[in-house]
Amino acid sequence: MDAIRVRGARQLKGTIRVGGAKNAALPILCATLLSDGESLLRNVPGLRDIETTAALLRVLGRDVTVSIPEVRVHGPKGTVVPEAPYELVRQMRASVLVLGPLVARYGRAKVSLPGGCQIGARPVDQHLLGLEALGAKITVEHGYILAEAPRLRGAEVAFDLPTVTGTENLMMAASLAKGRTTLVNCAREPEVEELGRVLNKMGARVEGAGTSIIHIHGADELEPFDHAIIADRIEAGTFMAAVGAAGGDILLEHAPLDDLEPVIVKLRRVGVGVEREGEHARVQRLGPLNSADVTTAPHPGFPTDMQAQFMAMMCVAGGRAVMTETVFENRFMHVPELGRMGAHIQTHNNTAVIDGVPRLSGASVMATDLRASASLVIAGLVAEGETIVRRVYHLDRGYEAIEKKLAGAGADVTRVQLESEPA
Ligand code: UD1
Repeated sequence: MDAIRVRGARQLKGTIRVGGAKNAALPILCATLLSDGESLLRNVPGLRDIETTAALLRVLGRDVTVSIPEVRVHGPKGTVVPEAPYELVRQMRASVLVLGPLVARYGRAKVSLPGGCQIGARPVDQHLLGLEALGAKITVEHGYILAEAPRLRGAEVAFDLPTVTGTENLMMAASLAKGRTTLVNCAREPEVEELGRVLNKMGARVEGAGTSIIHIHGADELEPFDHAIIADRIEAGTFMAAVGAAGGDILLEHAPLDDLEPVIVKLRRVGVGVEREGEHARVQRLGPLNSADVTTAPHPGFPTDMQAQFMAMMCVAGGRAVMTETVFENRFMHVPELGRMGAHIQTHNNTAVIDGVPRLSGASVMATDLRASASLVIAGLVAEGETIVRRVYHLDRGYEAIEKKLAGAGADVTRVQLESEPA
């Protein structure tokens, strides 16, 4: 069983390259289902979620060649059975992104319900409500969503709340629907905007992606595409928080600063300098770390996917920080683990109060989800002694070789094999 060993109390110094955005690559891979022929994705990160999506596309009749940082998707070959099985969907909730493309392209889709998730209930009701508005007949039985429509037709859809993958599912479905679709109260994340760019390359007419109202003129057929994925803002933000916690000075290559503005504002407030250097960013701890309160919100608010990493940094800041999680319930699972490393954190419902301590102490800790794992690695960087982060498969879902990237900037971080995993 892999684990990450961190020997802390060293500053970061050097260069770290930011890879392609996981949350942009996943919907774009699913968008290949909308056309025939060969699509080429560039700047794809080498992650377990990419492998899972490739496996899903293969089940759906595509030839997928993963040669990181490129992925080629070709096909379909033979008769496509538009069904996404539980074995794959349960590994990655974002698998639900095949629902929209499949029903739009094949008139029928059967996709396993993603089920519960460690960080909250995460329903898909908004995806289904939107597809129904486009004319799909939806039934949910035996743990599967069945969506059927001979041809989707454009419609007006108002989401009750902004959902990232819900917006993306509907954008893809509407791109092959007959006529014009208007989506209201959309998620405005940069990854949604990126999908809009790809759908436009494919021949749909998508206007307003990245804003709360999106118009889509559907096409009868869509073309394959060649596209380089944007840089991962959450990976970049994670390394920024690492510098904040551990101290030091790094050049973050290809950091997408504009997409990270809500995080950078907070970083500057606590004493982390982030300055543009050409297409890269210089990130430095400028002095003692101060505390700042944070409330997560949909983009352009502070991203929930940066909450755990920012909290790790606040554990060693001067003063008290109050962090409020408004996007997902139950997203404080890193708190008890940080506590085992000497952090002073109290939680009340969706609020965590963090009283900074001068230094954490290394411990054996358990990763519980993707971003929580990253927060434990950051905590390890600023802890005295050795930290072992177990259940690294969470980390591998969303960070490409984080141990190598941090080690390249002077941190003592390595992947180790543990003989067994405690129950
Ligand atoms: C995406 C990101 C994830 C990020 C999250 C919020 C991908 C692959 N994943 O997840 O990393 O943490 O956005 O920025 O892009 N909701 C409903 N009904 C729905 C859909 C969502 O109630 O039908 C709720 C969720 O429970 C949650 C909120 O809406 O409270 C936002 O979730 P959503 O934006 O859908 O998250 P994901 O798209 O799953």
